[in-house]
Amino acid sequence: MSEPEIIRDPAEMTAWSRAARGRGARIAFVPTMGALHEGHVTLLRQARRRGDKLALSIFVNPTQFGPHEDLARYPRDLPGDLHKAAAAGTDVAFVPEAADMYPPGHQTVVEVRELARGLDGVFRPGHFAGVATVVAKLFNIVAPDVALFGEKDFQQLAIVRRMVADLSMPIEIVGVPTVREPDGLAMSSRNAYLSPAERARALTLSRALFAARDRAAAGERDAAALLSPARAALDVDRLDYLELCDAATLAPMASLDRPAVMLVAAFVGRTRLIDNVQLGATDEIQRPPAP
Ligand code: PAJ
Repeated sequence: MSEPEIIRDPAEMTAWSRAARGRGARIAFVPTMGALHEGHVTLLRQARRRGDKLALSIFVNPTQFGPHEDLARYPRDLPGDLHKAAAAGTDVAFVPEAADMYPPGHQTVVEVRELARGLDGVFRPGHFAGVATVVAKLFNIVAPDVALFGEKDFQQLAIVRRMVADLSMPIEIVGVPTVREPDGLAMSSRNAYLSPAERARALTLSRALFAARDRAAAGERDAAALLSPARAALDVDRLDYLELCDAATLAPMASLDRPAVMLVAAFVGRTRLIDNVQLGATDEIQRPPAP
């Protein structure tokens, strides 16, 4: 299990990728912001099986953080990340500097319109333009054949899929179901911020979503009847949103008559957490892993 090659220079990353492709390799890619946990590692392991070469990027992208968000204190652990990446069979870790990703004078932004409007788009203005732009740049630099994203960030995955289709990017996008702690909490780099008491309250997000999914599985179709008990079950300091949305368009739904997703974003203490479960046609795929 050798450590991945570390590349910091975007041009060097592109040269690596061209050389690998020149030898006929299929490149699989997992973009991350580091502080890798089992969710990221699951993406890497699945990516390993989908390509001959596995590229990981670690870049805490400043343009997707709002002015009052946690950019400065976002967890960073490059040695730990490289160790986990090596164990998952990563060939190359692209770890650029912000100054090389956004040299002076940069002014082009990728904006996906409708999909980025609701949900996190309301509470994190500019966030998805930052995400779409950096993912487009990473795709151009790494030039992968396939890229994997977690369903944990459901709106982000939808936006990336839309961008790739709209901009004719020749990249297959694969969504990976949310990886959870044994008790159901969705894994997140931000869980590291939680005190034990906050950790216990954070669990009410997944519990509320699972209970709603059980109600839906038992036949409840009315959005309000699914949402109000879920809202009541949350023990959070600020609820940004709890919504039932069409799984394809992310438009709010009044009745569960097509594949849907229930999404939540809330603060527990100073930590903003998100989670979601799919309901309806695909409601079997997000069971928490057996302990
Ligand atoms: P980050 O939060 O580091 O997440 C990197 C990838 O891991 C994303 O595709 C995310 O959905 C996935 N992921 C995170 N937690 C997961 C979990 N519990 N189960 C499954 N997948 C999980 O998302 C970003 O970084 C950034 O926005 C990025 C796409 C890298 C652009 O900067």
